[in-house]
Amino acid sequence: MCGIVGYVGPGDTVEVLTSGLKRLEYRGYDSAGVAVLDTNGEVAVRKRSGKLARLVELLEASPVPATGTGIGHTRWATHGGPTDVNAHPHLGDAGKLALIHNGIVENFAELRAELDAAGVELQSETDTEVVAALLGLEVAKAGDLEVAFRSVVKRLHGTFTLLAMHRDNSNKVVAARHSSPLVVGLGEGENFLGSDVAAFVGYTRRAVAVEEDNIAIITPELVTITDFDGNPVEFEEYEVAWDTEAADKGGWSSFMAKEINEQPEAVANTVRGRITDGHVVIPELSALGDETIKNVDRIVIIACGTASYAGQIGAYAIEQWARIPVEVQLSHEFRYRDPVLSERTMVISVSQSGETMDTMMAVKYANERGVTTVSVCNTQSATIPRESDAAVYTHAGPEVAVASTKAFTAQITALYLIGLHFGHVRGTLSAEAEAAAITGLEELPAAVAEAVATHDEIAQLAHWMADTRSVLFLGRHVGFPTALEGALKLKEIAYIHAEGFAAGELKHGPIALIDHGQPVFVLVPSPRQSPVMHSKVVSNIQEIRARGARVIALVEKGDTSVLPYADDVIRLPLVDSIFEPLVQVVPLQWFALELSTAKGLDVDQPRNLAKSVTVE
Ligand code: F6R
Repeated sequence: MCGIVGYVGPGDTVEVLTSGLKRLEYRGYDSAGVAVLDTNGEVAVRKRSGKLARLVELLEASPVPATGTGIGHTRWATHGGPTDVNAHPHLGDAGKLALIHNGIVENFAELRAELDAAGVELQSETDTEVVAALLGLEVAKAGDLEVAFRSVVKRLHGTFTLLAMHRDNSNKVVAARHSSPLVVGLGEGENFLGSDVAAFVGYTRRAVAVEEDNIAIITPELVTITDFDGNPVEFEEYEVAWDTEAADKGGWSSFMAKEINEQPEAVANTVRGRITDGHVVIPELSALGDETIKNVDRIVIIACGTASYAGQIGAYAIEQWARIPVEVQLSHEFRYRDPVLSERTMVISVSQSGETMDTMMAVKYANERGVTTVSVCNTQSATIPRESDAAVYTHAGPEVAVASTKAFTAQITALYLIGLHFGHVRGTLSAEAEAAAITGLEELPAAVAEAVATHDEIAQLAHWMADTRSVLFLGRHVGFPTALEGALKLKEIAYIHAEGFAAGELKHGPIALIDHGQPVFVLVPSPRQSPVMHSKVVSNIQEIRARGARVIALVEKGDTSVLPYADDVIRLPLVDSIFEPLVQVVPLQWFALELSTAKGLDVDQPRNLAKSVTVE
């Protein structure tokens, strides 16, 4: 949450900062602001509540003659509402320094009391301004930005990425990281800082992931990284695997539309290079050794939101193929329940961003207990994969829309790969089942492409249903978490009450919700593959139809059994049962997008949300 960018160099500072913020806006869009050193050598700030476009308007109306030092911020409000005054940057040292922050300073009340006692007046309600003011006092005392910065960060509790610049230190930005993301971009005669590489990938693809409790200092020629005591830390650079084109909207109406369309490729790229001689081989897991995989007697998948539904689907696959009991826990519940873990437990985290605070803390907790940790992640060199014993990357490319789509299908794909790899290593998978699953996996991109092509009929449906106030989703087996995901998408971007249920649960309560005209999406399992489940779901359809539901059935092509009872039928390609979520979720994603559009909402930036939840 909150996007952060810093720049030193000869470029157009305001342009570098605003273009970085544009790419980071998905991290928060309550307000935005920049601070630059102007041609008089003073710190000049422009900031505004609302989306970045409002800041850009302000910068056009009131341009700032910037030299080559600046910081920029796009905010997801925590302390203090989304007002102009609370927007970052905040000032200290009588306006000589500017500071931006991502995270929460938990001891801010105590620090604020100290400032009150010292007679320092603050303008905003934010925890950030407290840090800016403290830093101001320290700079005045120490006479040196770096010394002052080190002493202030050591006093903070909570989570933070902080960037600061001072009038007396032109061409320098200092940054600190504690449990919030920070990356450096290495340029030629210029350097960058960002909450993620999107901040600077338009300028350089050479990046350095700053480690926990480190400070980065950038000047146009030099990047220095130290710990909080100032001891130098060695660092390695890596090349960002994608370019700006991948993170641009192209001709699409929204990032979400683009990303739904990219799913066949996301699935194919995640599988690519991981099938060798008829087996799934995941080179990234080789460091764990086959003995570790053979020895595992229980897997706990930890994740939040959409990623947790991917985890639930993965759990079916891993149990089916590797015969290891798998449970899925929400990351924020996991570490507070005193989980039973042993040296034979494996914790698999699933996270698109690799920075979700709840998941990161759960991974740290598992590491501290000596459990083997594997990360399924979409973001190269993010904190969670770096903190884990092994990382299996999904290759979905950058996901910008707040509502996750292609990352979800890529996460499920990665979990299928893990299930098949573990099944092969443990000898629990028959040669026949393995060959069939691998063929199915290889055919998935084409099947997903067919599901993507349901767009027009779904758009029509959403158009008719624009006034709908509540939608239910029913599924069984892997269709159950898919139903949960369909409901989450609708809540998130169309602000409609939606719930997903296990179809078998219907008569245990939820059927009371069915009233005349209640729309219900039903995910119908394949009659070829799962005849028993299929007939039970068809019975559920009859039960809800008899009570007035409007049934929208998602069926595999050729399944005519629901035609007499369904109001709408969406036909999907034939895939193996375990792979059904990858085709069934796509029309549900389209439905949420189209309903959001029909209601005139911002599909990519839904209210109150941010893409990367980096605070607990
Ligand atoms: C929903 C959505 C969220 C994320 C969740 C975890 O569309 O995107 O529910 O799935 O916040 O995020 P990551 O995967 O980055 O850990």
